[in-house]
Amino acid sequence: MPSLSQNQSHMNPKQDNYHWWQRGVIYQIYPRSFQDTTGNGIGDLPGMIQRLNYLNDGTSQSLGIDAIWISPFYPSPMADFGYDVSDYCNVHTLFGNLQIIDQLITAAHQHNVKVIIDYVPNHTSDQHPWFVESRSSRHNPKRDWYIWRDAKPDGSPPNNWGSFFGGPAWTFDEATGQYYLHQFLKEQPDLNWRNPEVKQAMFDVLRFWLERGIDGFRMDVVGLILKDEQLRDNPPNPNMPPDLPDNDIAGRSLMVHNLDQDEVHAIMQEFRQLLDGYGDRVAIGELWGPLDRWVRYYGARNDELHLPFNFRLMDEGVWNAQAMRASVDALEAALPDFAWPNYVLGNHDRIRLASRFGGQAQARLAAMMLLTLRGTPTLYYGDELGLENGVIPPEAIQDPQGLNLGAERTRDVARTPMQWNEEGFAGFSTSEPWLPLSTDCQTRNVAVQSTDPTSILNLYRQLIWTRRQSDALSVGSYRPLDVANDCFVYWRETTTDRRLVALNFSNQELNLMVPGLGNGRITLSSHLDRDEPIAGRLRLRPFEGVIIHPKHE
Ligand code: GLC
Repeated sequence: MPSLSQNQSHMNPKQDNYHWWQRGVIYQIYPRSFQDTTGNGIGDLPGMIQRLNYLNDGTSQSLGIDAIWISPFYPSPMADFGYDVSDYCNVHTLFGNLQIIDQLITAAHQHNVKVIIDYVPNHTSDQHPWFVESRSSRHNPKRDWYIWRDAKPDGSPPNNWGSFFGGPAWTFDEATGQYYLHQFLKEQPDLNWRNPEVKQAMFDVLRFWLERGIDGFRMDVVGLILKDEQLRDNPPNPNMPPDLPDNDIAGRSLMVHNLDQDEVHAIMQEFRQLLDGYGDRVAIGELWGPLDRWVRYYGARNDELHLPFNFRLMDEGVWNAQAMRASVDALEAALPDFAWPNYVLGNHDRIRLASRFGGQAQARLAAMMLLTLRGTPTLYYGDELGLENGVIPPEAIQDPQGLNLGAERTRDVARTPMQWNEEGFAGFSTSEPWLPLSTDCQTRNVAVQSTDPTSILNLYRQLIWTRRQSDALSVGSYRPLDVANDCFVYWRETTTDRRLVALNFSNQELNLMVPGLGNGRITLSSHLDRDEPIAGRLRLRPFEGVIIHPKHE
């Protein structure tokens, strides 16, 4: 991977007048698991309103985030826990109703918190009225809103595509004698974005929410929405893992004809134009794949997504300074000047950050990295407490991915209820939650960690407030330094403000000479126990990260 030399630095496109989503920190809420107010064991929208002060009360006693992204709250049969939408313009009764979402938007804005919602354009629920009509007859006007094809002469599916949740991506509909495409569950049929009526209807959904005052969208699996016009077979995957479950058909081929088709970019441009018509809103997309394909989603003329989600650090197989730096440098090198970076270290589809990188010490260091790199950070609820993977007994698995592809693939482990306090059910609910609470909920919760000055929650609070107060940390350039040890060291700089960040990824104490540092002051350590002057030489304890203010230059 390309690496930046010590003298190169990535400057920002503008020195002032940044958008809120450039300076801001985004916090993802998985609605079922954040706060229940009705006592049914499932989180809801009033729960989010109730917890706004925790998220941002305007002081450093709160987390201090700038925006929430809420995973789907729409009416849904919940085959994929809301990512199977049966009405894009309403709220599931489990979570509230339209009036309550209006109240949430107003209350969040009063807390200086923007509201980003999930938008699921690739597929609807099979219970969506559009699909009910579409499957009712080959001649229904909505037949072509989905992707229907005849069987091959031997009766098998039209091509070799697999569902990400196991089995083929096609299901045969006996009544009308054709297959329909679903890249996820058979309960999630793919929409046909080549049909102008579909595009129109889905753009109307965006308008509906923009007019209600939401501040942006996180678009689900946008790279998949357009498929090869001829629906050709995907080629075999040469790097197939040996332990691939028999029903993982998707894993057996490369995503050549179902992902990143060139025509998707025209849709991204229209989407962006629509959003721009409503002022300063943000367009975020869920995207995977190699850097050169990923970067295209910013648009050649800065006319597509503001933030194609960047999962590279999260998906890095190894935990060391070299790998993290290589990933950041490659990203910085790939970005056009206008493109704003972003980093994600946890979400509802991956295992918990604290379980991925080795434990609590690593989770603290990761927090400092996420909140000091150049670009918008997205946090996942509960990571600020250092939540680890939940223990989900096989009979309690709810996630279709775990049910279909094996218990070790269940995403339930990252969706356990938020741990607020030591009351019954951790203050999340007054009754048994929909997924088991983690066993550490009596000790690892907001109330306990708020009283411990060195807790990971207080680290997140301080990192976010430190970032907010420093131009260098919120919008400054990124300039990595070459150091010999397992340390990732970089400057964040504007013309008037500088901070040095040094992250020790090893379990050894290290001494570093930092060229150009001179005298400075450690203003924040990931151990939260150090505020001291330094001169040139820096001692870092195992897994310690520090932010240095070169005050005395
Ligand atoms: C995205 C979502 C995931 C969901 C899938 C299908 O990857 O993040 O949770 O299962 O899309 O909608």
